[in-house]
Amino acid sequence: MRGLKGKRIVLAGAATGVGAGAAVRLGEEGAAVVIGDLNLAGAEATAAEIRSGGGTAVAYEFDLADEASVVELVQHVVDEFGGIDGLVNAGADLSPRTIGVDKNLLETDMAVWQRTLDVNLLGYVRMSKAVVPLLIEAGGGSIVNVSSGAAVSRGDGKRPAYAASKSAILALTRHVATNWGRDGVRCNGVMPGFVMGPTQVQQNDTELQDMFLAQVPTTRLGRPSDLGAVIALLLSDDAEWINGQVWAIDGGANMRF
Ligand SMILES: NC(=O)c1ccc[n+]([C@@H]2O[C@H](COP(=O)([O-])OP(=O)(O)OC[C@H]3O[C@@H](n4cnc5c(N)ncnc54)[C@H](O)[C@@H]3O)[C@@H](O)[C@H]2O)c1
Repeated sequence: MRGLKGKRIVLAGAATGVGAGAAVRLGEEGAAVVIGDLNLAGAEATAAEIRSGGGTAVAYEFDLADEASVVELVQHVVDEFGGIDGLVNAGADLSPRTIGVDKNLLETDMAVWQRTLDVNLLGYVRMSKAVVPLLIEAGGGSIVNVSSGAAVSRGDGKRPAYAASKSAILALTRHVATNWGRDGVRCNGVMPGFVMGPTQVQQNDTELQDMFLAQVPTTRLGRPSDLGAVIALLLSDDAEWINGQVWAIDGGANMRF
């Protein structure tokens, strides 16, 4: 991919899973990778994996739900690398106390809605607010937001707060793309299908895995590297003319025009 060598990319929520897949691929492509996550040990392990392959990567603890912590993460990147060329928003609260009790409209507690939106949506808003001015000042850059197939699918009747948070990310993506495209700031998104990262391995929801494989025209479940490849492409110069798009990367689960 063209233009990733030396690009300074900050990834918000990339200790494990899809975000880590993107971090590893970006490291392989020669980008300088900054991984921010609540899970510092996981972020450090992913950064170490990138460095052991000859790449450049550092890790910081931060919280998408805390504006001061977001500002501090972005400042770390500027202090360490002198600026930012790209942002990947990948984190989401997938913990049992949040998505695990996101049942349906009548049974999902308001606190679960608030926490879900605070991390999954407002976290991306906080990161974008902190990074967009730096990209404008630098003459451009690229943002990739990780949404979900849950944003556009008919859904499974569960997880309304999660699906709403992921739908709102589509609007945020178009908003940034529209307002700052002329400043060279591109903003795109991906909607993963069922991707087997460590969280999904731990959840071991074989019913959901079987349902996905039975319904989707593909040979296998997704891997973090499948998403990592597309996220890296969207951050690269090969994607110079791609703006405001959200791609379904899901083995064909959502086919759209
Ligand atoms: N895996 C899938 O099947 C799938 C499908 C659709 C969308 N997604 C999306 O992909 C992204 C990654 O999910 P994943 O499935 O790889 O799971 P994951 O648990 O491996 O990744 C989520 C990451 O977000 C971090 N995080 C959670 N709360 C945070 C906070 N407050 N501040 C900072 N970091 C925080 C976690 O520590 C973790 O590293 C999410 O946005 C998720 O919604 C995943």
